[in-house]
Amino acid sequence: MVRILFVCLGNICRSPTADGVFRKLVAEAGLSDRFASDSAGVSDYHEGEPPDERAAAAALKRGVDLGAMRARGVVAADLRAFDLLLAMDEPVRRRLAGMQRLSGAGDAAKIGLFLDHAPHLPVREVPDPYLGGEEHFEEVLDLIEEGAKGLLAHLRREPWM
Ligand code: 4NP
Repeated sequence: MVRILFVCLGNICRSPTADGVFRKLVAEAGLSDRFASDSAGVSDYHEGEPPDERAAAAALKRGVDLGAMRARGVVAADLRAFDLLLAMDEPVRRRLAGMQRLSGAGDAAKIGLFLDHAPHLPVREVPDPYLGGEEHFEEVLDLIEEGAKGLLAHLRREPWM
């Protein structure tokens, strides 16, 4: 089993969306017994909350149900428990790298930017949609769908497959 943690700031918009989109792709590929994913935020401000309703509505329009997800903060144990920790933007990646350095938990090489798995895109970060309008949530989904496809293609090429 390969374990992937998607990480953003609040864990109510981008990372639960990435988790939901990735799980759907994995299920469609018949690989749900090979991959386990979850999401978390570098802030625990929204701990226990369901996803932002704009994010949930945008995901549902594309057949992804985020209803069961609840926000949580990243903990040092996640750095050991997951094989890959994929940040939605560079500040989040730096926060994860800082946690890894300070705690000594896990391996720095596990931490990366989610969109590094979609090198054909002109951007490397999924922008924070929290203060934006509905169109920002559509843009987030477009980027996340490409990132999730690229990630799954990458994982399927790895020797652990
Ligand atoms: P997320 O979006 O990191 O994609 O979940 C945000 C959600 C909440 C806040 C910021 C970003 N906030 O400041 O409360």
